[in-house]
Amino acid sequence: MRVRRRTDADLAAVRAFLAENHSDRVARRGELLHPLEHPAFVAESEEGRLLGVLTYVPDETGRQCEILTLHTTEQWHGTGTALIEAMERWAAEHGIDRLWLITTNDNVDAVRFYQRRGFRLAALHRDAVTESRARLKPEIPLTGEYGIPIRDELELDRSLGDAGWRDR
Ligand SMILES: CC(C)(COP(=O)(O)OP(=O)(O)OC[C@H]1O[C@@H](n2cnc3c(N)ncnc32)[C@H](O)[C@@H]1OP(=O)(O)O)[C@@H](O)C(=O)NCCC(=O)NCCS
Repeated sequence: MRVRRRTDADLAAVRAFLAENHSDRVARRGELLHPLEHPAFVAESEEGRLLGVLTYVPDETGRQCEILTLHTTEQWHGTGTALIEAMERWAAEHGIDRLWLITTNDNVDAVRFYQRRGFRLAALHRDAVTESRARLKPEIPLTGEYGIPIRDELELDRSLGDAGWRDR
């Protein structure tokens, strides 16, 4: 597997990948974003098959960066880890000191995944998904992973000053 920055040549494949993962539009923190308009890393097999995509949004201060989406075609094959590591390398090289992201209250697998990689719970935005569903993205399902009602946003972050997850 290799991980690289998305180029214009990847646009069609990444657009289709995001659509398959219901993430061509992302509602979070009361805003609707289009991940394809933001930079991304792609993971691909030696044969060039797309294995995963991470899109990200550096903020205007240049100190913080949001991981907007992260999806892999097959879970638990190391692709998510490889994409996070590429993001962290890029962030360190660009003077970013805080990586952050939003996930939903049902996504306990993601909460596990990110905490294992040095991220910490930073905030709970109660009923934020309920509000986004009403105002921005009505197609957000009512029920998510493990039959859990999707209602809240969980914010996780990682200070890049911390010891890396591999070092602990
Ligand atoms: C969350 C996600 C990005 C993780 O990527 P991944 O490629 O599956 O993750 P990796 O293979 O690199 O890491 C897998 C970890 O999960 C563990 N794992 C294996 N099987 C598991 C299972 N059934 N349930 C939970 N964890 C499992 C692995 O042991 C490894 O754990 P570690 O932390 O001890 O190393 C991916 O599963 C995904 O696309 N999920 C759906 C979309 C999503 O939820 N995105 C994040 C929302 S913001």
